[in-house]
Amino acid sequence: MCIKGKVRFSSPSNIAIVKYWGKEPGDQIPMNPSLSMTLDHCRSFTTIDYVIKKGYEPHIEVVFEGKRSIDIEAKLQRWFTKISYFFSWLNYASLKVESHNNFPHSAGIASSASGMSTMAMCLSAIDAHLNNGQMPGLDVQSNISRLGSGSASRSVMGPWVLWGKTDLVDGACNEHAVVVPDVHSYFHNLKDTIIVVDKEPKRISSRDGHTFMELHPWRKGRIEQAHQNLELLINAMKKGDWSLFQKVTENEALSLHALMLASEGGILLWKGNTVDWMHYIRDQRKRTSLPLTFTLDAGANLHLLYPAEVKDQVMDIIESSPVPRLEILHDQTGKGPLMLLDEYDHC
Ligand code: PMV
Repeated sequence: MCIKGKVRFSSPSNIAIVKYWGKEPGDQIPMNPSLSMTLDHCRSFTTIDYVIKKGYEPHIEVVFEGKRSIDIEAKLQRWFTKISYFFSWLNYASLKVESHNNFPHSAGIASSASGMSTMAMCLSAIDAHLNNGQMPGLDVQSNISRLGSGSASRSVMGPWVLWGKTDLVDGACNEHAVVVPDVHSYFHNLKDTIIVVDKEPKRISSRDGHTFMELHPWRKGRIEQAHQNLELLINAMKKGDWSLFQKVTENEALSLHALMLASEGGILLWKGNTVDWMHYIRDQRKRTSLPLTFTLDAGANLHLLYPAEVKDQVMDIIESSPVPRLEILHDQTGKGPLMLLDEYDHC
């Protein structure tokens, strides 16, 4: 058996409303369920040139954003040992990987989510050629992504995605994400305008971040809070209740950072402008009554969320802000990965 080919996918990042922060013992098992919106524009693009031949020594070469990356090669090799349970052919695969993102680093956008999910999609397409054209199911694609980066499990589908065990949604589990059913049309098309106030790579690695929760004094309370917020959020999204959505969104963003602040070492990722933007958005919301809310990833930059219908008014608010910013990125609700190329042959 020998096949060779070239496959390319793009896959989006996502922004969590209920945050995944902390793990349970095991392989990438979340401490609590999380729920995110899949993005549309902020994407990773990955191409894999491959030869799969029984008897080959496995080999991987990675070029990331134009430069060979030994670090990513090592990370992928560790990931392959976990996922060879699904794709045993990785033990005799020769892979040349080229990957890049269409969004800047350190902009408060999870590049591990888009990057690992785009890799998982490419490997799934290769697997299909070794399995009579049958792509692994969405649950396997998500599971494989999860083993690379937890939040990546939520990027292989859209628009609203839940990962982690809960009785609130059928099929929800720790191993793979599921699409949130029953979302009111009010939430079908939200804008996510990202206000970049800091471009330094200050975002703590999520690997470190999750370990801070192991002995965190608020761990038990945080797990309860996340489950409660998830229930409120799912109800808000079912009913089209913006004000409840907004309440949960900001509570989760601020709680994520409160957990970090209360961690050993006191992790403070906000800049002065982060705080000023949060005050400004709340003041403007009070003044205009517009449906406008913010969330934050593990970094200083803000994601402003609002329905597409109020885009012009929100852009006026952003443009007339006295608070400085470095850049604005525009995104919105998205559907998930896209296959861009898939050619192969027997060799
Ligand atoms: O998937 P990771 O290990 O990069 O962790 C993601 C953590 C947050 O982005 C802060 C929250 C989330 O749920 O995406």
